[in-house]
Amino acid sequence: MNYKVLFVCLGNICRSPIAEGVFLHYCKQAGQDNQFEVDSAGTGDWHKGHLPDMRAREVCSKNGIELQHRARQIHLNDFSHFDQILAMDLSNHDTLMALCPEPFRNKLKLMRDFDDEANRGSDVPDPYYSGPEMFNTVYQILEKCCHNFFQTLKPRLK
Ligand code: 4NP
Repeated sequence: MNYKVLFVCLGNICRSPIAEGVFLHYCKQAGQDNQFEVDSAGTGDWHKGHLPDMRAREVCSKNGIELQHRARQIHLNDFSHFDQILAMDLSNHDTLMALCPEPFRNKLKLMRDFDDEANRGSDVPDPYYSGPEMFNTVYQILEKCCHNFFQTLKPRLK
């Protein structure tokens, strides 16, 4: 299998690079990272080329994950290229739906569709204007969602 996953948030410096790092970590732990292409992007372009926010890098580093992603904005080719595109919240999901050509819209999902303890349509909260404790909360949510998402793909791995 060569499965291509894209995580999307607003700025591509907090939530989606954490999700990318955590998901890749699960792929590596299972010895399956050669079967995946994992990336992240933002619907906005304000942070293009930047490393993830220091608070995102810190919470990941504490958990043994080093983030090296450089922020980029979503582009039209992403919708055909990736197999699954996971938005961090409803607002970004709506933006993606509006940009996405109709034949690819079934690739779009919400990240918390994989959170069995969350209500339908829940957001991964935007931590940008919050303190470091919110980055911990976001990390815990993303760890759970990435774990569950990876489990759903396991039967398709070689
Ligand atoms: P993210 O967080 O979407 O999780 O990367 C944000 C980063 C930057 C901004 C907003 C949210 N901003 O307004 O610059």
